[in-house]
Amino acid sequence: MSEIAEKKPTKPVVLTCAQPTGRLHLGNYLGAVLNWGRMQDDYECYFGIVDQHAITVRHVPAELRENTYSCLAQYVACGLDPTRSHLFAQSHVIGHTELAWILGCLCPLGQLERMTQFKDKARKQESVDAGLLYYPVLMAADILLYNAECVPVGDDQKQHLELARDLAEKFNHRYSETFKLPEPFTSKVGSRIMSLQDPLAKMSKSDPNQASTVYITDRPEEIRKKIMSAVTDSGSEVRAGEGKPGVTNLLTILSACTGRSLSNLEAEFSGKGYGDFKKAVAEAVIATLDPVRLRYDELIKDRDALQAIFKSGAEVAQKTAYRTLAKVNRKVGFVERPR
Ligand code: TRP
Repeated sequence: MSEIAEKKPTKPVVLTCAQPTGRLHLGNYLGAVLNWGRMQDDYECYFGIVDQHAITVRHVPAELRENTYSCLAQYVACGLDPTRSHLFAQSHVIGHTELAWILGCLCPLGQLERMTQFKDKARKQESVDAGLLYYPVLMAADILLYNAECVPVGDDQKQHLELARDLAEKFNHRYSETFKLPEPFTSKVGSRIMSLQDPLAKMSKSDPNQASTVYITDRPEEIRKKIMSAVTDSGSEVRAGEGKPGVTNLLTILSACTGRSLSNLEAEFSGKGYGDFKKAVAEAVIATLDPVRLRYDELIKDRDALQAIFKSGAEVAQKTAYRTLAKVNRKVGFVERPR
């Protein structure tokens, strides 16, 4: 490990990860993945599919495997570019669990027991495995292994990121300066795409009413049907704001898909009814997602291509991971690995 020379990254490192759970929806795309794609020129980007996190809850092995490929195909279809960024599966890189162990040895048990997501998930289960409690430590390791400075995450992950910062600080203090403190990065634009059937709740894949959620792989007819039956508000003006959660959501979607401002769109639809407006939203979403779906359909058939992406991503990620791990092991006091 130690023969790998210290590499000085020229661009700041961004890392974000997602669990390989099923299909991405319009909210994931407009609120997150699209923005990750835009960071690829200015940052060195690591995008991980965290299959080791996925086994902290009961799962079906064959589904996990399929979902991992599907997740990769969806991210690439959404514009994450394996020639510019490192797309990898967590389980392919030695170092995530190793670093997690070391960080866990600096982490007060109480801090893990107080994590809100842990408490939520634990409440819903009869018995709780240690892995679920340890989940945020593994996440901290994902981030610190690559010395990421900037971590795009949703609000629900802020507390986990805070833990990663705490553990980085603790390690730096106990041993010596090693880790940068990762900063959260939350995007404002399009980050709150709401359910089409209940515009007060976020769009979600677990919504029992599937008319609420547009998936990035939905066909044009499905998209049209879902948008045309979206809940709107009383009155008939197309404007964003107070008392208009349904229309505001559709305007936000239209704005994110077309790059036009809300006020510009309000002006265009002033005096026109909801019908014309919804048609415009549907067509804009179709135009945005159609190329994504077509790329996905191609990629998902090509296992070799997906494997090749995983391979090149893991190669780069592994080099970085070994470099960090060698440094961390030495600082902790582990004897040098015999060569
Ligand atoms: N816990 C995150 C989620 O469920 C996924 C995740 C794991 C992650 N490791 C990460 C996100 C590192 C950002 C950075 O959304």
